[in-house]
Amino acid sequence: MLEIGFAKPTLPRSGALVLLVGEGDKPSGLWAEADTATNGAIGRALAAAEFKGGKGKTCTILAPGGDLTRVVAVGLGKLSDLNARTLQDAGGNAVSALSRDSGAAVATDGLQAAQAAEVALGAVLATYRFDRYRTKEKPEDKPRLASLTLLHGDTPAAQSAWEPLSGVARGVYVTRDLVSEPPNVLNPAEMAERCRKLGELGLQVEVLGPKEMTELGFGALLGVSQGSVNEPRMVVMRWDGAGGKTKPVAFVGKGVTFDTGGISIKPAGGMEDMKWDMAGAGTVVGLMAALAGRKAKVDAVGLVGLVENMPSGSAQRPGDVVTSYSGQTIEVINTDAEGRLVLADVIWYCQQKFDPQFMVDLATLTGAIIISLGHEHAGLFSNDDALCEKLIAAGKETGEKLWRMPLDEAYDKQIKSDIADMKNIGGRPAGSVTAAQFIKRFVNDKPWAHLDIAGMAWSSKDSPTVPKGATAFGVRLLDRLVAAHYEG
Ligand code: BES
Ligand code: MN
Ligand code: ZN
Repeated sequence: MLEIGFAKPTLPRSGALVLLVGEGDKPSGLWAEADTATNGAIGRALAAAEFKGGKGKTCTILAPGGDLTRVVAVGLGKLSDLNARTLQDAGGNAVSALSRDSGAAVATDGLQAAQAAEVALGAVLATYRFDRYRTKEKPEDKPRLASLTLLHGDTPAAQSAWEPLSGVARGVYVTRDLVSEPPNVLNPAEMAERCRKLGELGLQVEVLGPKEMTELGFGALLGVSQGSVNEPRMVVMRWDGAGGKTKPVAFVGKGVTFDTGGISIKPAGGMEDMKWDMAGAGTVVGLMAALAGRKAKVDAVGLVGLVENMPSGSAQRPGDVVTSYSGQTIEVINTDAEGRLVLADVIWYCQQKFDPQFMVDLATLTGAIIISLGHEHAGLFSNDDALCEKLIAAGKETGEKLWRMPLDEAYDKQIKSDIADMKNIGGRPAGSVTAAQFIKRFVNDKPWAHLDIAGMAWSSKDSPTVPKGATAFGVRLLDRLVAAHYEG
């Protein structure tokens, strides 16, 4: 992980320096000092480049004077629009301009300590790389940036603002590592082992296998898993940051470590993407790591249902009827609508066991949500307006945006079964909504929100704080939700 340091705002005479510039800003502080020290070279270069501090814009000035190798001006956009995400993006944009330096200083003397820490978070998230399986990479081809020093007037304040955020960064890394792993490595048992290791952060981790889940009566989850030689797991993680005596907040994740579709098999093209069908679970695990890592003053539980959906002689058939842990029966019309079956049992268990304040589930649940919202918003479905408002606000602040979708009894007719309490698909119209209506049947009037993250879990292109690949969408969002409303 990129190393973050702090120092007093004295102008570095060598190496790389980053200046953060808001729209309409005039040189002051370190920026003005750097301009003077380089005999106005920086001001002239910014003018020549027509750099005005626009959001996402950067301007690199090479060897402007003295031993400075480069000065990178990074636009913050309108200062009235500054939020956590725009600050993080500035950190990420700085990192992409610094790929040839091993270290750099960032002038954050114009920002509050907490804002400087957000810049650091963005920089750390931008340098994430999953390179476990690259054996032939030449060292000179690897990114060099190893450390960043934030120059700030109140270094202790900046340092203590950074400490919790480093926990969040760790959580995002945990999620990205899990979601990036290939499906032959990360099966349910392996994912459960990695959860167990997070016990070192102070989390209590409990793992249930097929025996325990059979005893409980997890017919819906076990039906999905029965076609695979890889055994299912359910992992329950607890963080008792408020002493463990209060009703916890609860997060539930879909963890299909590979989704072939089962007997209702998917087409070959792009099926490799279904290794990230455990991203909901990966996000819940990373979030729990973040909460523990920053010692959040909250009692939280994270539950993940881990299965592999395979076709085989022992696989579940279209037409099978399973009995869920709630007692409700489900006719499985399409074995590729498996995520809702997994969530049904884990959500019911979560309520029985923990009686939480609220539940948020995350799942790469439907292709239909990508048709609705593309790759800009996750779908939010909820029975609770207040929870929705908090989630949407947290989404705006962290740039992990949500768009509320409807829930309505009128959709229930689409999931009526002739022989069981419900069937697991509702046809093509409103596919994400009927999936959410299905899950709602396993929610006992608790405040609950369902995030369909199918369009958000994986990215095919780089963005400032999210290198292409596993995004860890939801970790920053839900960490913010907890920090803003459920601590202290
Ligand atoms: N994991 C998929 C949803 C998905 C599709 C996630 C594309 C990410 C990208 C889910 O299990 C699934 O197969 N859903 C089906 C439901 C259908 C059979 C009702 C779908 O969306 O096609
Ligand atoms: Mn599926
Ligand atoms: Zn799936």
